[in-house]
Formats: sequence, C-alpha cells, structure tokens
Amino acid sequence: MNWTEKYRPTSFAEVRGQEEAIKKIKSFIEEFSLGKLTKIRKKSLLLYGPPGTGKTALAHITAKETNAEIFELNASDLRNKEKLKEILRPALEQKPLIKSNKIILVDEVDGITGADWGGVTTLQMLIETTTYPVIMSANDAWSKKLAPLRKKAELVKLKEIPYNVVKDVLIQILKKENLFVNNDILTNIAVKAKGDLRAALNDLQTISKVKDPSSLKLDERNKETDIFNALRTIFKTKTTNEVLGVFDNVNISMDETLLWLEENIFTEYKGQELAKAYDALSKADIFKGRIYKQQYWRFLVYENVFLTYGISAAKKQIRPGFTSYKKPDRILKIWLNNQRTAKKKSIAQKYAHQVHVGQKRALKEFVIIKPIIKSNEKIQKELKLSEEEITYLNKL
Ligand SMILES: Nc1ncnc2c1ncn2[C@@H]1O[C@H](COP(=O)(O)OP(=O)(O)O)[C@@H](O)[C@H]1O
Ligand SMILES: [Mg+2]
Repeated sequence: MNWTEKYRPTSFAEVRGQEEAIKKIKSFIEEFSLGKLTKIRKKSLLLYGPPGTGKTALAHITAKETNAEIFELNASDLRNKEKLKEILRPALEQKPLIKSNKIILVDEVDGITGADWGGVTTLQMLIETTTYPVIMSANDAWSKKLAPLRKKAELVKLKEIPYNVVKDVLIQILKKENLFVNNDILTNIAVKAKGDLRAALNDLQTISKVKDPSSLKLDERNKETDIFNALRTIFKTKTTNEVLGVFDNVNISMDETLLWLEENIFTEYKGQELAKAYDALSKADIFKGRIYKQQYWRFLVYENVFLTYGISAAKKQIRPGFTSYKKPDRILKIWLNNQRTAKKKSIAQKYAHQVHVGQKRALKEFVIIKPIIKSNEKIQKELKLSEEEITYLNKL
C-alpha cells in the first residue's frame, strides 16, 4: 500500500504545517453551518498551494468533520451540463438552512483548460445557486482564467510544508513501520521534497525497500529499464556502429552511465576482455576529466565512443543468457554531493551579487568566504540566507 494513502490525514489535527489554513476553513464551516451564509461574502473555499501540501486531504477532512458527504465534480463533469444538472438537482432544490450534509468538491480547478473553458462559468453559476458549500482546490489561484472564481471564493493558502516538519513526519512514519533509515538520508529527502510531503513520502517508501540504501538513486526510479537494456546491448550484442547511439535515449547523464558500466563490466567479461574494457573505460574517464577542466564539450563525443563501441568491442564472444545488472553504489553519493554543491552555489551567488564579483570567483574563493559568513549572523542576514543555507554552513 502506498504510504501516501496509508498515512493520509483523517482529521484536522493530523494535518501538518497548515494551522492558518485550518483556522480559516473552520471559521468558514462555522459560518456556513450557522446559516450565516447569506450574510458572508463568499459561498465557497478555494484551497490553493503547491502539490503535496494537503489540499485534497483537507477538503475530505472538512466533509468528514462536518458529517457531510462529498460530491466530487471534475472538469469534464462541468462541461457535461446534463450530468451537472442531474447531480445538482437535489442541491438546487434544497432550501437554505436545511441540514444538507453535502459538500461539493471540485479538485484541481486549474486543470480546467481550453476546451473546458465554459467550466469556469458553469462553476461560477453553481456557486451562486447551490445551498451546499463548494470547496475547490488549485495549485495556482492567480491565473487569469480563475479570476471569476476568485471573486466567489474565500481564498485559503496552503504553505509548502517546512523542511523540519517534513522530516518529522518521515520519522514518525518510520517508527510506525518499524524501519530505520539513516538521518542524512532523511534530511536529504526532506530537503529535496521542497515542501511537497507526497513526494517525500514516496521517496521514503522507495528507499525503505532497499536493503542497502547507499545503493539507491533517488531520482532515477523509472530509468533502470532503459539503462539495463543499454547495458545488454553493449555487453551482449555484436558490435556495430549502432551501438554508438545506445545511450541516446537513456535519460541519465554520461557520468552516471560510466558508473553503471564500471559496476557491471566484470559480471560479463573475463580475462583479456576485461582488461580491454577497463582500458576503454579509463580513456573515457580521461576525456571526462578534460571536459570538466577545460569545459571542452566536444570531448563528450569521444567519451561516448569509448563507453559504447570501445567497451562493446572488447568482448571476444557473445555470451547468451540473462544477466541482471547492479545499480552502482556511488550514485547516491554523487546525488548527495550535488545537493551539497547546490547550497554552496546558491550562497556564492548571493554573495557575488552583494559584493559585485562574478559567481565563478565567489565559488573559487568560497573557502575564504565561508568562515566569515558562517561566524557572522549579520552578514547572513544581509545576504538573506535561507534557513537551509545556514544549516548547510554550520554543518561544514
Ligand atoms: N499537510 C499535510 N499533513 C500531513 N500529510 C500530508 C500533508 N500534505 C500532504 N500530506 C501527505 O501527502 C498525501 C497527499 O496529499 P494531498 O492532500 O493529496 O495533496 P495535494 O492535494 O495538496 O496535492 C497525503 O495523503 C498525505 O499522506
Ligand atoms: Mg490534490
């Protein structure tokens, strides 16, 4: 079972990091149930905010806590006037102040586009006529097309879930699952989620399935099949010019490709083959180094030739059969390292901007700048460093 489903919050108390939104929702319901609806300005709620912050969950909780049934409409229902009428007939015939116990939910209204344009107008009318509260959700409430709805709705903003809250949720879930994932990885999942709790839970569930989490690549969940096929082509088919293009449609970087090959060569090749293959690999690595040092991207072509044709041609014979290839252990380390340099870069960028030097120079002199920024909160403030950036500095 998906953890996002299993740990879907079912009460306001279980929703994390959205205190202000919940307060607004509660006061809306209260006014609604007291029949003050005609007096209040708005008859609907528009919950808006980034993905994975609890919009859909909150809509359902609102229904549950008011003992209401959810009536869900999607964009195509809105286009289908007949169906809409049918669905809404009871609503339209209800008189206000009768306990109606229904909430109309239109999830992801910003999904109404192009052909469904009329949906917005329909929805607008619906809000005007219905005696039921209408809850809408959207990622972006400020698009032009939603302007008519904004006028009708109480806007409730959902925030990105702060990194420490995300991390806390992850820890609680691991406890319930009786699992252990090391703290660094938790921190990284939480940071990488950028406020999206759904993404964080999915990452955590994936990583918890791996026996040795250090072999996991967080970003490549769907890419394995491609790389497996590419490796099979190189190791197990006749070497032709076609092998040169084998990585063209594999959605991973050349650096990672190299790691995959390095990790798996020895499962296929023996003796002299192995020596030849490693030779090709090391030449590819040399070009890689030159590319980094000299920013001479043309060398990518050579790197590719060695990695594909070079390694493929190293074999003396084709060995049939199925080999299951291994994910390289170093991928996660590379990913962690990229996370780190990302912070370094963003700090250097802020510094460069403030003192009018190039970003490159700021990066180069980072060793000198770092302790100064680290030890001086005033400078940190002046640079407008984020909490995460400061955490990063303090960890160094
Ligand atoms: N604020 C939150 N508190 C607790 N869990 C959350 C929160 N936001 C998201 N989640 C988790 O992510 C899942 C997806 O949330 P959902 O409400 O569907 O997000 P949205 O509709 O904003 O994209 C939930 O089932 C829950 O597991
Ligand atoms: Mg949703």
